[in-house]
Amino acid sequence: MSEASAPRDRAEALDSADELAKRRELFVLDDAPGVTYLDGNSLGALPAAVPGRIEDVVRRQWGELRIRSWQESGWWTAPERIGDLIAPLVGAAPGQIVAGDSTSVNVFKAVVGAVRLTRDGGAPGAGGRDEVLVDATTFPTDGYIAESAARMTGCRVRPVAPGELAGALGPRTAAVLLNHVDYRTGRLHDLPGLTAAVHAAGAHVVWDLCHSAGALPVGLDAHGVDLAVGCTYKYLNGGPGSPAYLYVRSGLQDRFDSPLPGWNSHVEPFGMRREFEPAPGALRGRVGTPDILSMLALEAALEVWDGVPVESVRAKSLALTDFFLECVEAYVPGGRLECLTPRAHAERGSQITLGCADAAEVMPRLIGRGVIGDFRPPDALRFGFTPLYLGFGEVERAARVLAEVVA
Ligand SMILES: Cc1ncc(COP(=O)(O)O)c(C=O)c1O
Repeated sequence: MSEASAPRDRAEALDSADELAKRRELFVLDDAPGVTYLDGNSLGALPAAVPGRIEDVVRRQWGELRIRSWQESGWWTAPERIGDLIAPLVGAAPGQIVAGDSTSVNVFKAVVGAVRLTRDGGAPGAGGRDEVLVDATTFPTDGYIAESAARMTGCRVRPVAPGELAGALGPRTAAVLLNHVDYRTGRLHDLPGLTAAVHAAGAHVVWDLCHSAGALPVGLDAHGVDLAVGCTYKYLNGGPGSPAYLYVRSGLQDRFDSPLPGWNSHVEPFGMRREFEPAPGALRGRVGTPDILSMLALEAALEVWDGVPVESVRAKSLALTDFFLECVEAYVPGGRLECLTPRAHAERGSQITLGCADAAEVMPRLIGRGVIGDFRPPDALRFGFTPLYLGFGEVERAARVLAEVVA
């Protein structure tokens, strides 16, 4: 076997042993070889069931049934029904997640909610707790919103690297906002350990699952997470701008005091009462009229998960990212690219980020050659690996094209 053919042969063997390979047929993807989609960590591919469902929602449910669809087509209960479809993917029992709004809006609900839970829940020194600790490398929207949420609750934001969180927690901590997987480097943070540390400090934690849900097991219930948010347009393939979701642990729901109480979070939405009385359970995380077209596209998109354990997705994700790194090492001259994603499986999400001085020029050239990743300033080439529709042959090709482009 020649040096150059070794990764190609490995790819063939890995593809034929791949138990998830058939799932690709559930997506609309380029049939012709020559395009490798490595941007599912930004926008997941289109599940084939979605166009037909949207056609039915628009033509029949809206066009013919009109207002009756709020009941007869299940529009009114879609946020909690779809929340229950997301639940097993993030390790949550039913009744704790509602779909709706954007991640940004849900970060706001969750951070203010977490501060109120800590302050009103009798945590030791609750009144003096005036710090919201935020992942220092967070996706910007989380930081902006946490800052505003902190100001509104009389707190101040303190940025902290997740690895240094333990030393920063203390009697002033009201809430903590962390990303499960870092959007830029693909680093996976220690959700069980950090959640336990926040609890030991008497505070509540909010996890942003945008880059982990649908790519790896999260275990929200098992690890006692308080609140979590996430988007559905990345590894959950819900489509551009699809609704996000909010998880509130069942034991906290009665005390969860949303800063955005709307008529949809009211115990009796059609009672049209002047006073607000929150609905029981996760429903109080809802706000206003749900975005039904996007919501029902998401519901159809989630069908690709039927019968797929997240654990097998994780196993394939690690195999794909390992194989990509192996191919990059075999093809790209040493020193040209620097892997910014941790090698250790326990610290890796489903993305590989390669540092490259001329990344801004390299990525458009890669895209021109059919390798679709993305660029994050100043120097990051990001490649997302979606196990449900990606094969090892494509990964080998992407690494080969990358080597040619950077040569
Ligand atoms: C970690 C993280 N949080 C939040 C967002 C964005 O939130 P929104 O859906 O409100 O735009 C993203 C988008 O990529 C993200 O990666």
